Amino acid sequence: MNEKLPWWKQSTVYQIYPRSFYDSNGDGIGDLNGITQKLPYLQTLGVDVVWLSPIYQSPNDDNGYDISDYQSIMAEFGTMEDFDRLLKEAHALGLRVVLDLVANHTSDEHPWFVESRRSKDNPYRDYYIWRDAKDRKEPNNWGSCFAGPAWEWDEQTKQYYLHLFSKKQPDLNWDNPTVREEIFSMMRWWLDKGIDGFRMDVISLISKEPGLPDGVPMATGYTSFNVCANGPHVHEYLKQMRREALAPYDTLTVGECSGVTLEEAKRYANADGSELNMVFQFEHTDMDFLDLGHKWGYQKVSLPRLKEILSRWQVGLHGIAWNSLFWQNHDQPRILNRLGDPVHYRERSAKLLAICLHLMEGTPYVYQGEELGMTNYPFQSLDEFRDLDSIRAYEELVPRFWSHEEMMDALRYKSRDNARTPMQWSDEPQAGFTTGTPWIAVHPNYRTVNAKAALADPSSIFYTYQTLIRLRKEWPFLALADYRLLLPDDEALFVYERRLESERLLVLCNFSDKEQPFTLPDGYEHASILIQNTGRENVSQKDRLKPYEAFALHQIV
Ligand code: NOJ
Repeated sequence: MNEKLPWWKQSTVYQIYPRSFYDSNGDGIGDLNGITQKLPYLQTLGVDVVWLSPIYQSPNDDNGYDISDYQSIMAEFGTMEDFDRLLKEAHALGLRVVLDLVANHTSDEHPWFVESRRSKDNPYRDYYIWRDAKDRKEPNNWGSCFAGPAWEWDEQTKQYYLHLFSKKQPDLNWDNPTVREEIFSMMRWWLDKGIDGFRMDVISLISKEPGLPDGVPMATGYTSFNVCANGPHVHEYLKQMRREALAPYDTLTVGECSGVTLEEAKRYANADGSELNMVFQFEHTDMDFLDLGHKWGYQKVSLPRLKEILSRWQVGLHGIAWNSLFWQNHDQPRILNRLGDPVHYRERSAKLLAICLHLMEGTPYVYQGEELGMTNYPFQSLDEFRDLDSIRAYEELVPRFWSHEEMMDALRYKSRDNARTPMQWSDEPQAGFTTGTPWIAVHPNYRTVNAKAALADPSSIFYTYQTLIRLRKEWPFLALADYRLLLPDDEALFVYERRLESERLLVLCNFSDKEQPFTLPDGYEHASILIQNTGRENVSQKDRLKPYEAFALHQIV
C-alpha cells in the first residue's frame, strides 16, 4: 500500500449478509461464528475490509434493518462474545470490519419508541416524528419505500408517526439534539470496541423538510420515499457526527445516499474529510426503472446510458471527493441477470463486469457470491419470497396495476431476495450453507456454482476478482489516475482510458453477445495485457472483441 494514500482508497470491501453467509449451528440461519470460520476464505480472495449488514438485536421485520437494541447482538446470529472473537480474528488476518449504522429509524420495539408512543408528554415523544391527522387523513402524501403511506395511525395517542420504511421502522427525529447525541455515543461505543467504520443506511434521508410539505405523487398516489433525500440539515448533522463521533478514529465511512446527485456527493464525500469518505449513489442501479416511479417497472438497460452515468461520476468526483464502485448489494438483484448473460456466458460476463468496474477510480465493493458468479433465483410462486418489500409490492400492485404473471416477472428480475439466497460454498446439500433447513431456498445451480469448485479452478471468476483486488492494493495508479470515456455512443462497447503521468491504462469491454470490431487508439501498439477474460495473448491494431470479452492494456509512454 502507498503510505501517502488513506487505506480505504486502496482497499476492496466485501459485503456480508450474515443471515445468508454461513450457518455454523444448523438452525438454517447464517451467524457470526459462521463468518469467523470463513475469514480465511476472504483472506484468500484478498479483500481488505468486511462490511456486515446489521447484526444487532431486531424483531426482523426487515432482516435486521429494524433495530431494537443497537448495543446487543441478534440472538439468531450469536452473542457479543462471538462478535468480539470475530473482530479479533479478522484483525489478526489483516481484515478490517465495518458495521452497518441504521440510524434513520429504529424498530418500533426499540425502548425509545415503546416509550415514545405511550403519551404525548413522554420524554421520548420527540425522539420520533409525530403529527396530527390532516382532514382525518395522513399529514401529507409521503409514501413508504415498502408500499402504502409513510404514516401509521396510533390509536392510543391519536397521532400519526412517520415511517419511510415499514411501519415497524419509525423514523428518528434527527432535529432533536438528544437523538443525535444518543446515536453518536452509540457509535463511539462500537468504535472503542475496535471496529473500523460504518456503512450508513439511508443517511441521506435523516433531515426532513420543515413543515413536512406534500411532494409529487407517483401513480400509487404517494411520493417516493426519496422525497426526504438531501434535506436542509443533513450536511450539518454529518459534520457534527464527524466532530463528535468519528474524528478520533481511523475509519472507513460510506453513506448509503438514495436520491443523491453528483453535486450533493461532492459535499457528502468531500476530500476535506468533514463528512463521509464516500457515498453509494444509485443512478446506475436505478436506470432500468420505468413506470410507477419506482423500481418494479423496468426496461432494458441502455449501455450508452450506463456509460454516461458511471463516467459522469468518475470525472465529476476526481480530485474533489471519492467514489464507491459497486454493481450489487443485498437490495439489488444479481448483476449477471441485469447486465451479463447468466445462461450462455456466465463466467465470461461475470469477469467482464468485474474488470469493467474494478479498474475505475473509487473503492470497490464485492457482494457475497458475486465472486462466484451467483445468479437470480428462479422463483415460481409468491410464497418463496421472504422479503417484505417484494410481498408488500405484490399486494399494492396486483391487480390494481399488474396481473399476477406480470408481477412475478418483475419480482424474478428485481426482488431483493435474489441477492439473499444462501452463499454457495460447495456441492453438498444446501450448498454447504447449513446442515439444517435454510431460511430461504438455495439456488439450484449450486452443484456447479460454488466456492469449492471456484477455488479448484485457476480460471474461475474468483481468481479474476483476486487479481483485481491485488492490483488495487499494489498499484496506486488505480486510485490516482484520471478517467476518460471513449466511444460514448457505442451500443456494445464500454471503453475507457486512465492516465497518470507516463502511465496509461485502456479498458475494453464488449457488453454484447456478438463479436465487435474495434480499432486500438494510438499509443497502445506496444502495450501489455494486464488482465483478460478469454485467454487473449495479444491484440492487433484492428481487432475483434469476442462476445462479452473484456481486457485491459497497460502502457508506459
Ligand atoms: C436500506 C437497506 O439497504 C435496506 O435493506 C433496508 O430495507 C432499508 N435501508 C431500510 O433500512
